[in-house]
Amino acid sequence: MICHTGPTKPALVLLCCVGTWLAICSLSFGAPTATMIKTILELLKLESKELYEDYSKKDADGLPTNESLQLPCFTLGYEASTSISTIQVYLETAKRLSDNRADTTNVTKRLDDIRCSNPPKPSISEPEDFHERKIFTLTVLKRFSDCMAKLEAKDRIC
Ligand SMILES: *[C@@H]1O[C@H](CO)[C@@H](O)[C@H](O)[C@H]1NC(C)=O
Ligand SMILES: *[C@@H]1O[C@H](CO)[C@@H](O)[C@H](O)[C@H]1NC(C)=O
Repeated sequence: MICHTGPTKPALVLLCCVGTWLAICSLSFGAPTATMIKTILELLKLESKELYEDYSKKDADGLPTNESLQLPCFTLGYEASTSISTIQVYLETAKRLSDNRADTTNVTKRLDDIRCSNPPKPSISEPEDFHERKIFTLTVLKRFSDCMAKLEAKDRIC
């Protein structure tokens, strides 16, 4: 299966199809179906948005996001598992730093189901300050939700 190969748009070049992802994934973990992956992505889109809106209303009203926080997004290509793994570290950290106010357990688990390998977890720097922890959590939730909203799941060749 072929991913998008337009030479001028890196974002599109990386946007592979679920079919390609399945080809990569099935080498490592059985045979997930395209429907299953699409369903997970749709649920993640809804749940990540809910998490962000909920936290932003309850705990971070009026706070800005931190533009220097580098949270990766991912598309369903070869590098996806590494990015997903990094996102998971951010989500787990946001949960801990927010004293579980941002409960990212479910979305973190769902990401496990679409990640096809288990790359080493990166270490990330964590803010100490109470206020900065809120900004960190808010930013992680917003970036994750934006990422899921952008991710288009298709079950055939792009
Ligand atoms: C996580 O999933 C469980 C079981 O599906 C559900 O009861 C719970 O409300 C979910 N938690 C969040 C924060 O969405
Ligand atoms: C924003 O993130 C950077 C990088 O993690 C950090 O050094 C900085 O202190 C953060 N600023 C705020 C206001 O949270």
